[in-house]
Amino acid sequence: MIGYVICGSFCNFENSISTLEKIVKKYGDVVPVMSYNAYFTDTRFGKAADFVGRIENICKRKIVRTLEDAEPLGPKIKLDLMIVCPCTGNTLAKIANGIYDTPASLAVKAHIRTGRPLLIALATNDALGANFENISKMYVRKNIFFVPMREDDTENKPNSLVCDFSLVEKAAENALSGKQMLPLIV
Ligand SMILES: Cc1cc2nc3c(=O)[nH]c(=O)nc-3n(C[C@H](O)[C@H](O)[C@H](O)COP(=O)(O)O)c2cc1C
Repeated sequence: MIGYVICGSFCNFENSISTLEKIVKKYGDVVPVMSYNAYFTDTRFGKAADFVGRIENICKRKIVRTLEDAEPLGPKIKLDLMIVCPCTGNTLAKIANGIYDTPASLAVKAHIRTGRPLLIALATNDALGANFENISKMYVRKNIFFVPMREDDTENKPNSLVCDFSLVEKAAENALSGKQMLPLIV
């Protein structure tokens, strides 16, 4: 069983959903998790309720969207792999620094306790800013892997890194074997 955590990088929701479809096709049972902001916020990229409906339909499961729902994902419901796709700078900062006040960050913390792999599909315009140190903190930790990423707009977003969503599946295979997919920067 795979956990699939969606954070509020709204411009990447379509990328995340098409990736989710591939993961469900390949691995079957997938438990969807959303951060509060991802679950409740309507943006110019779409209405929250529409995304929620689509995700629940793909997974044939209700989204984990409260702290109470998220807490059993490590100790009671053991997942083979958890994928955070997309992972915001905000959620990366929380998990790197021990803050677990959202369903997304608590699910990650609960999962990490099991010693099973976590795969982070980062998308943030703060990656080379305040979050740079959080990337390195997570990168050196055991069982934590990143989807290869690139600088997506050096002109307008000089601190931005976005993962290559087409590599999530391959990076997941690597993570399940305890390996970081390389090259990290594509
Ligand atoms: C339209 C829109 C797009 C956003 N895109 C991103 C993004 O791509 N990456 C990111 O790190 N934050 C992005 N944010 C900011 C996050 O949504 C914000 O930091 C939020 O607190 C994240 O919460 P979460 O990590 O709990 O999902 C965006 C916000 C909005 C309104």
